[in-house]
Amino acid sequence: MNLAVIGTGYVGLVSGTCFAETGNQVICVDNNATKVARLQNGEMPIYEPGLEVIFNRNTKQGRLTFTTDLESAVKSAEVIFLALPTPPGEDGSADLSYVLGVAEQLGKIIDSYKVIVDKSTVPVGTAEKVHAAIAKNAKVEFDVVSNPEFLREGVAVEDFLKPDRVVIGTSSDRAREVMQRLYEPFVRQGNPIIFMDERSAEMTKYAANSYLAMRISFMNEVANLCEKVGANVDHVRRGIGSDKRIGNRFLFPGVGYGGSCFPKDVQALHKTAKEYNYDFRIIDSVMKVNHDQRFILSKKIKEYFNNNLKDKKIAIWGLAFKPNTDDIREAPALYIIEELVAAGATVTAFDPEAMDNVRQVMGDKVALTFGHYDALHGADALAIITEWSLFRTPDFNKMAQLMKSKVIFDGRNLYGVETLAEAGWYYNSIGRPIVMPN
Ligand code: UDX
Repeated sequence: MNLAVIGTGYVGLVSGTCFAETGNQVICVDNNATKVARLQNGEMPIYEPGLEVIFNRNTKQGRLTFTTDLESAVKSAEVIFLALPTPPGEDGSADLSYVLGVAEQLGKIIDSYKVIVDKSTVPVGTAEKVHAAIAKNAKVEFDVVSNPEFLREGVAVEDFLKPDRVVIGTSSDRAREVMQRLYEPFVRQGNPIIFMDERSAEMTKYAANSYLAMRISFMNEVANLCEKVGANVDHVRRGIGSDKRIGNRFLFPGVGYGGSCFPKDVQALHKTAKEYNYDFRIIDSVMKVNHDQRFILSKKIKEYFNNNLKDKKIAIWGLAFKPNTDDIREAPALYIIEELVAAGATVTAFDPEAMDNVRQVMGDKVALTFGHYDALHGADALAIITEWSLFRTPDFNKMAQLMKSKVIFDGRNLYGVETLAEAGWYYNSIGRPIVMPN
């Protein structure tokens, strides 16, 4: 099939590349000429495991190309994907100006039947708005389909190539047949393509992400209470997760969820509920809980040092909002660093991928180091914020030698409480007993 993907951001690039991988002819369009030139040169604008390999293969074989020319890309395509940014406005609602702007242009360009697919996460009712924007100028038949993505950063390629499900919102049989044909190669193992109306598909995306955010917030609250009652959230997590109705994934407490999706989507669902005069109380609580959880680690650190961090050096491991990405959007690390610096601490930090991005937004507020051990020199405490595999089995003796004190605040529960107790550390994690050195 001939496909056009409009917008070469994270979703557009992953989708375009993976569609090319199953033999489609894909042309990706972006109005940023510098970005397009870079992509044509084989430069990847994002770090995403596994993407570069299939990107190179498909560009080399000519199945994946890039252009700034919307008109020619669209004319030759059977299916056109809109993967454009929908940034949250001041009030939390998604800004649809990019999506609707392109839709209006499409109306003028298309000269044969097209399926136009909303890939961006958009508020309920957007497919209808996109339809109306195209219809203003269109002289040919077309259908608008809502096809939300459920890609996790860091495993986006795998999620795209082997999705748990594909959700397609359309009321047109013609579009349904096209989408079925397009997605069939991705669900050969038997996972479903679920067809529904446009509004339900749009709602599915918000409900899925908000549910997962709620699960995390629930576990964060359970963890905080575990600390008070003297329980260990590791045990509780396994105890509840082995109930098949609950399941064992996405139950890890931490320093709050971040990233480009959960905070934005939870806020957008809250906004939608408000618009329809519905008091969605659980969503309000999820937002409040996550806000507070971001400060859990800095609060623990401040309490430990009696609220005086002057002359204290805090080392940080992990800056990205989660491992295997360089993404720092809504990353808890940024909030934690701001708090520590405001309280007078000097902060040194290491992250395997996200340091360039942090340098851009934080400047010299934080000293970034070459390796993870380098961050520890003379540190009064180490705070672990992202669970990169690199941090999972460190040399504790080496760490003790480098640091001024054997103190760890672990926002991701990477180490066994017993291990750190035996090695004589002060170890304060999330929802587990605090280990005191003898
Ligand atoms: C998420 C959804 O998973 C994906 O389906 C959607 O399309 C986009 O948003 P992503 O933001 O890439 O993907 O990351 P994810 O792995 O879901 O983690 C989100 C946040 O939750 C991270 O900050 C992570 O640290 C946190 N998290 C996740 C927890 O705190 N505990 C968990 O158990 C799982």
